[in-house]
Amino acid sequence: MSLTNQKDLFYLPDNITYLNIASQSPSFKSVEEAGIKTVKEKSHPYLITADRYFDPIIKLKKLFTKLIKAEDYNRIACIPSVSYGLATVANNIQLKKGDEILLIEEQFPSNYYVWERLALKYNAVIKIAEQPKTNSDKGKKWNENILSSISAKTAVVAMGNIHWANGTLFNLKAIREKCFEQNSLFIIDGSQSVGALPFSIEELQPDALVCAGYKWLFGPYGCAYAYFGSYFDDGIPIEENWSNRLDSENLSGLTNYQPKYKPLANRYSVGEHGSFIYTEMQIAALTQLLHWNPNDIQNYCHEITSEFVQNLKEVGCFIENDDFRAKHLFGIQLPETIQMESLKNRLQQEKIFVSYRGNYVRISCHLYNTKEEFDRLNGCFLSEIH
Ligand SMILES: Cc1ncc(COP(=O)(O)O)c(C=O)c1O
Repeated sequence: MSLTNQKDLFYLPDNITYLNIASQSPSFKSVEEAGIKTVKEKSHPYLITADRYFDPIIKLKKLFTKLIKAEDYNRIACIPSVSYGLATVANNIQLKKGDEILLIEEQFPSNYYVWERLALKYNAVIKIAEQPKTNSDKGKKWNENILSSISAKTAVVAMGNIHWANGTLFNLKAIREKCFEQNSLFIIDGSQSVGALPFSIEELQPDALVCAGYKWLFGPYGCAYAYFGSYFDDGIPIEENWSNRLDSENLSGLTNYQPKYKPLANRYSVGEHGSFIYTEMQIAALTQLLHWNPNDIQNYCHEITSEFVQNLKEVGCFIENDDFRAKHLFGIQLPETIQMESLKNRLQQEKIFVSYRGNYVRISCHLYNTKEEFDRLNGCFLSEIH
């Protein structure tokens, strides 16, 4: 089923064009309402019952489990950021001297520094799968480069489903196969893809998946999700929050100190992850998101952007080939005939919001955007050619 425009679900004003969900999503009306309702609840704490610390979290984890096509909600941890999730992952990995950690060139910093530190701890080596220097078949060659960089020395591969700044699609299925062959851990950062691009834990079987919640998952800033596979079943969490221990629902027995954690990944949730405000907002967000199929989101984004992409390529901009890029997020490299600073000013005047990452103009769109908005954006680019 194809999707139609969904702007009615948001409070986005008509005179702005928002093409920057890759930085921060707008809230659904339902998410804003859930947040306001729970902010008000705090004025009446006597109405907050003990089950509110636990039941909404289970509901939230079940929604996320469904979204990523996993089996057991106990494999999900609620965390505040990607860096928190990746710190949990890295703290539970032991390496040998000379082991390699494979990363992608210009990876997001929260998925870089943590590995740099781990490499230092074990005298291991960071290896970067570089992007090809050519623009011809760049995405295809980059994928080939990643695959050929995985060897018997590779202990960990940590990367996203797409490149966060330019939208290059990475073939996670093939990379997973190679990781299996070489016995490498496979850690995915789904922050710029899960929710908007088809994703399946059952299919990819990563050792861990970490996702920011405030972009394509429409949650508040400060909430994120992690899935942990069996490698991490007996690991050590960053902190020891009371609610992650078995039977913590029995509030009167909390000082009968409990040596056991709740099953699987529950131990990795951040303290106070039951935050009523965040949890209710996240539940509202994922409930709406689950009404849509990520394939349909891709098709919608492709429909409203394809003419724009074609026009820009014709005037010398570089945008990755359709087969090797996401449709919800892509980067544009400008030709010498267009000056970045002047384009920035024009887009600002026109109230068109995009982001600038490295030497890319990053465009990210969703079901609230329209083809007419891309026609206007097109006009801005064309009028900047000198
Ligand atoms: C690929 C990717 N990972 C992670 C994040 C956010 O990381 P953190 O939650 O550690 O701030 C972003 C934010 O832009 C991102 O693009």
